[in-house]
Amino acid sequence: MRLLPFMASAFTLALPSAAVTAQDVANGARIFDQRCATCHEVETGESGPGPNLAGVVGRVAGTTDGARYSRSMQELGITWDQDRLMEFLSNPRGMVRGTTMSVALRDETQRADVVAFLASLSDPADQPSDATN
Ligand code: HEC
Repeated sequence: MRLLPFMASAFTLALPSAAVTAQDVANGARIFDQRCATCHEVETGESGPGPNLAGVVGRVAGTTDGARYSRSMQELGITWDQDRLMEFLSNPRGMVRGTTMSVALRDETQRADVVAFLASLSDPADQPSDATN
């Protein structure tokens, strides 16, 4: 039964803003609190063990002031968009060899919801447009 979650997230990704519901974002916020918030701040603008993630969608990887990054992340040279966050969160070390972030979200729906939550924190004007648009 791996087909259903996959289809759900493919649908979400194909139609980023239209398909993402407020409920997805709320669910993503809840998962973020449980799985990410111990290391990542999204409100104060400060970094803790992990970099601040407010505005991460549309931001160049490894560039938040005051955050401690691995060399791999600093040299990655990509701008985070929703597709790249999906890839990173499915297997951080698979995408960024040598990253110090090891937490993966294996469930596609949970992952898509967390990415929707992170995207909701960025000004839409700062976000790279998706390839499908
Ligand atoms: C145990 C602490 C910890 C947890 C829990 C954690 N992270 Fe991280 N995260 C880090 C660290 C440390 C980095 C910096 C990695 C590096 O420099 O290689 C990072 C980097 C990131 C980045 C790249 C940020 C940037 O500025 O380029 C994203 C995106 C991210 N984490 C998302 C998440 C999400 C979403 C979750 C929850 C599913 C999560 N992280 C859970 C520690 C954590």
